[in-house]
Amino acid sequence: RGHEEDEPKFVLVTGGAGYIGSHVVLELLKDYRYVPVVVDNLDNSHPECLHRIEALSGKKVPFYPVDMMYKDGLREVFKKYNFSSAIHLAGLKAVGESVENPMKYYRVNIGIALNLVEVMKEFGVGKLLFSSSATVYGTPKYLPLDENHETGACSNPYGKTKFFIEEMLKDLSQVENDWNIVLLRYFNPIGAHESGEIGEDPNGIPANLMPFLTQVAVGKRKEAKVFGTDYATRDGTGLRDYIHVVDLAQGHVAALAKLEEKCGCRAYNLGTGKSVSVLEMIAAVEKASGKKIPYVLCHRREGDVGEMYCDTTKAETELKWKATRSLDQMCADSWNWQRKNPTGYKTA
Ligand code: NAD
Ligand code: WQD
Repeated sequence: RGHEEDEPKFVLVTGGAGYIGSHVVLELLKDYRYVPVVVDNLDNSHPECLHRIEALSGKKVPFYPVDMMYKDGLREVFKKYNFSSAIHLAGLKAVGESVENPMKYYRVNIGIALNLVEVMKEFGVGKLLFSSSATVYGTPKYLPLDENHETGACSNPYGKTKFFIEEMLKDLSQVENDWNIVLLRYFNPIGAHESGEIGEDPNGIPANLMPFLTQVAVGKRKEAKVFGTDYATRDGTGLRDYIHVVDLAQGHVAALAKLEEKCGCRAYNLGTGKSVSVLEMIAAVEKASGKKIPYVLCHRREGDVGEMYCDTTKAETELKWKATRSLDQMCADSWNWQRKNPTGYKTA
């Protein structure tokens, strides 16, 4: 008779067809301890992504095209698998859209998080990793940002949904003593799997810096825009803590182990602890792609902060995880994905 602890554990990955989720699924497939099961309504993702994960891993990925706004669809998946834990990445993430349509963001992001934890409770599953964001810190009062920095002063409804869900999960862990919850506060994920088979595939005009730059490099857009040149930073442009998406995905695998301990509800920063300016990023993408990236200097973008980067100590000591991939690697992998897939998954 095999030992129960040697049996692979089923892990629900909501949003597993998305940019970060797809890399998390691939890392879990490499780990004999876990079997990822994907739930995603494909609102912001493409089934081709899951086919590519299967081709890369040589494994089948159980996938359920469930809209998590409907609890019964979720329940059906929980009936099929004896989940040990859930990683909740699903949600809406467009900051600008959240300003224009705040109710949509509150309804969906908070609604699906609530539905998930209620169904988890029904089925006796009490281990959860939640995709939070550095945006919960608002404008930094000090740097680097550690996990004790105050949260909540977010400048947009998207960020507030992350804050409210964090608060909801903290309250839940006060009454559910046997639940273990980890809030992962991502800094700025960029890059792609080294194969160039999976990566970030934004709809329309990219709001984030990296996909915009690679689209300029590939000839899809004429020039980049530098939002703000008068910040109190080394070159006047915004500084961010960019992290390779594969490092980030490996951080999730490390955090899953934490859920096996009695940990209550804990937050961890996932970043590199280093900051990169917009102009430095343009230069790094030019180097990785061998293409000139023309750019125009513009006013600050509303709601932006000048500088953000994290203290990585807590994740390093408690999760035994550290990001290792360099900025050059991040740019090389973002470029490789863009070059191989100039129109994203839609070419397939
Ligand atoms: P993404 O849009 O690529 O992935 C999210 C996935 O959730 C998509 O595949 C989408 O189809 C799915 N989804 C949305 N609504 C759903 C619903 N009602 N039911 C089921 N599935 C649904 O985004 P991402 O960049 O991979 O982000 C993943 C998570 O990480 C999100 O929660 C996001 O807010 C968070 N996050 C992202 C960043 C970033 O810069 N990308 C930074 C911090 C936090
Ligand atoms: C990075 C830097 C811009 C685009 C956003 C969300 C945050 C999180 C990650 C989910 C800034 C500058 C950008 C451009 C530019 N998402 N920039 N030209 O704003 O740090 O974070 O994504 O949780 O919540 O707000 O990332 O990539 O948009 O911007 O100059 O075309 O690049 O001003 O300094 P941001 P970003």
